[in-house]
Amino acid sequence: MIYLKTNDEIELLRENNILVSQTLAEVGRHIKPGVTTKELDRIAEDFIRAHGAIPSCLGYEGYPAATCISVNEQVVHGIPSDYVIKEGDIVSVDLCTFMKGFNGDSAYTFAVGEIDDDVRRLLEVTKEALYKGTAQAKVGNRVGDISAAVQEYAESFGYGVVRELEGHGLGRKMHEAPGVPNYGARGRGPLLKEGMVICIEPMITMGNRAVVFERDGWTVRTRDRKPAAHYEFAVAIRKDGPDVLTDFGIIENALNN
Ligand code: MF3
Ligand code: CO
Repeated sequence: MIYLKTNDEIELLRENNILVSQTLAEVGRHIKPGVTTKELDRIAEDFIRAHGAIPSCLGYEGYPAATCISVNEQVVHGIPSDYVIKEGDIVSVDLCTFMKGFNGDSAYTFAVGEIDDDVRRLLEVTKEALYKGTAQAKVGNRVGDISAAVQEYAESFGYGVVRELEGHGLGRKMHEAPGVPNYGARGRGPLLKEGMVICIEPMITMGNRAVVFERDGWTVRTRDRKPAAHYEFAVAIRKDGPDVLTDFGIIENALNN
């Protein structure tokens, strides 16, 4: 069952995703050598609650924190810990809010100080893959058009596209239909209709695409322990094209100031 949202509902989803963007910016400002991922999680949780929302990752299927923070070879769903961030790390932060009956869900991968050129390129390509997929998120296209655009772009650089996890619908529930894989064929999959809201979230690896699920029950890392990046947008499907509910501009302005 794919829920189509009214314009008013899309505005509530936008409010949530702007708060997610602001929270990612707040976390990003604090990502520096010496900070622990648990401290970053606390900053995010306090910020979300101070803005009248609930961090909807906390308690989701028993998840123990407000954010997922995945460092270097961790792909997604890293649990905040006493790990101390160091220069050269890449730090993916994925977080969700809930207020006014709807969810927000977005992710961003941050570089800590100077990072290797090949890792910088991984981040740039993963973000661009998200943009390529997003451009396909319009009425009349199919989910496979998004999937193929992400896959083709990432693979053209020789990167791996993680198969085990995918994007999803977003609404009153954090995860709704349809699933939005990061690989697939153009013209296949569910038809995109006015009022659908989906999260597009490429998870791209510098080496082999294979991943391992850690024994903590959550953390997903690359099998070859090479770095992985993850960016996520919430997007409403409209007649006049993709309506991106997430605002990376808020994050990137915060990093440049
Ligand atoms: N935010 C993640 C997503 O993009 C979901 C995290 S699962 C949780 O779908 F349990 F950590 F919340
Ligand atoms: Co998501």
